[in-house]
Amino acid sequence: MNDPLIIAIDGPSGTGKSSVSKTVATRLGISYLDTGAMYRALAWSCVASAIDLDDSAAVSAHAQTFDLRMGMDPAAPSVGVGDRRIDREIREDAVTSVVSRVATNLDVRANMKQRQRDLIAEGCAATGGCVAEGRDITTVVAPDAAVRILMTASEDARMQRRSRQLRVATEATRSQIVDRDRTDSTVSQFTTAADGVVTIDTSDIDFAQSVDAVLHVVKEATDDL
Ligand code: DC
Repeated sequence: MNDPLIIAIDGPSGTGKSSVSKTVATRLGISYLDTGAMYRALAWSCVASAIDLDDSAAVSAHAQTFDLRMGMDPAAPSVGVGDRRIDREIREDAVTSVVSRVATNLDVRANMKQRQRDLIAEGCAATGGCVAEGRDITTVVAPDAAVRILMTASEDARMQRRSRQLRVATEATRSQIVDRDRTDSTVSQFTTAADGVVTIDTSDIDFAQSVDAVLHVVKEATDDL
């Protein structure tokens, strides 16, 4: 039997990383893990449990015990805490504006790393592979993945994409993406590619071309296996 195919994709917001990752996983018939959604779920759960986000010990204790449920079907990925589905809630401003505060907690990251490795293994067992996307997948969570990609794009291209998604003015997304990336990059290095990681710059290519670029890297890597 072939080894499971793990595809690790990192990059800042607005590069098209999530939509591309989902489509690549669908095309290859493998699982999909959105690790950013896990940090978002933790932020949502802390707020819902009235945990002070400045109390790093309380946040990290909550990270150990909260009942996070990730659905890894790329056609219908889902996020829940206990029986409550929170797919919509984790995309709201109330979560987006605070998520970096939990994601920069190093104890939280250690816990998430283990959860993410377990989920990737579970996804591989179910479908033979997993596309996992985030900020530290190529470097920390799955540094031995057969395929490791960093998706980048110019700041202007990222802001324009995000403003189209959120249907707000381009400038209004600056603090959402640029400032958040600056905070997030204090704990993960996702702006330049680590050794052995292939960079795909999506500034001047469209969605279909980005998917093709990832599938091309996958083909090259798997032909060598
Ligand atoms: O990709 P996103 O916007 O959904 O990510 C949400 C937050 O989680 C963002 O602040 C970056 C952080 N994150 C991280 O630190 N490590 C990951 N592997 C994924 C996301």
